[in-house]
Amino acid sequence: MARRRMIYEGKAKILYEGPEPDTLIQYFKDDATAFNAQKKGVIEGKGVLNNRLSEFFMTGLNQMGVPTHFIKRINMREQLVRMVEIIPLEVVVRNVAAGSMAKRLGIEEGTPLPRPIIEFYLKDDKLGDPLVTEEHIIAFNWASQQDIDDMIALALRVNDYLSGVMYGVGIKLVDFKIEIGRIFEGDFQRLVIADEISPDSCRLWDIETGQKLDKDVFRRDLGNLADAYTEVARRLGVLPRSNGTVKGPKLVQ
Ligand code: C5P
Repeated sequence: MARRRMIYEGKAKILYEGPEPDTLIQYFKDDATAFNAQKKGVIEGKGVLNNRLSEFFMTGLNQMGVPTHFIKRINMREQLVRMVEIIPLEVVVRNVAAGSMAKRLGIEEGTPLPRPIIEFYLKDDKLGDPLVTEEHIIAFNWASQQDIDDMIALALRVNDYLSGVMYGVGIKLVDFKIEIGRIFEGDFQRLVIADEISPDSCRLWDIETGQKLDKDVFRRDLGNLADAYTEVARRLGVLPRSNGTVKGPKLVQ
């Protein structure tokens, strides 16, 4: 098999050069990290689940007219995506107080927020991805005011879509993180959702029981992470329902 050129290796994914100009292949690993990689593990099957779940969410967003980098899934662990220039900010949307915000502000986890709160974090592992304000973003040229306005609009559209989809399968979207990239078309740039959308980057709570179905299961040692992600995928119809009996050979994609 021809060797591919690796462009970038992150904690949970690898990017390879794509088959066409301006494309990349995004490979989903089974590695799980938390607390800025201080906690590490390998969760068998996580990469396969996140590849399928991210495909599901990105396809839905594309169909709704919310642009993403996603082109198509290639196989169990890989998808073809458009090459973008990543804006060095993590955009977090919160519907319910949890995680770092609950801790930082002393608000009880689970407190509903009166409106979605959007936060920006600088993507910098050495600094531990610090929270930054719009003033910082503009002063240090990480993005323009127009970019910020566009990022907020995109983030809120993703929130509406994801909240609705998850609500439909009995799951509350507590918060999530997205990354946004620039695509250049002639003299113009367009912002698109990049990276991944999966239970690695969302907080998902069962509406009835409050059970956590996201990476907090790994962060807080609450059980089997792959089981939680499988449950999300099963509810969304992303995984075929199994009745426990295997009939004949199955096509593995
Ligand atoms: O930790 P915190 O409460 O700030 O996380 C908010 C949301 O962003 C959570 O859904 C978390 O999974 C996600 N996140 C992420 N990657 C990070 C930081 C947070 O996906 N580096």
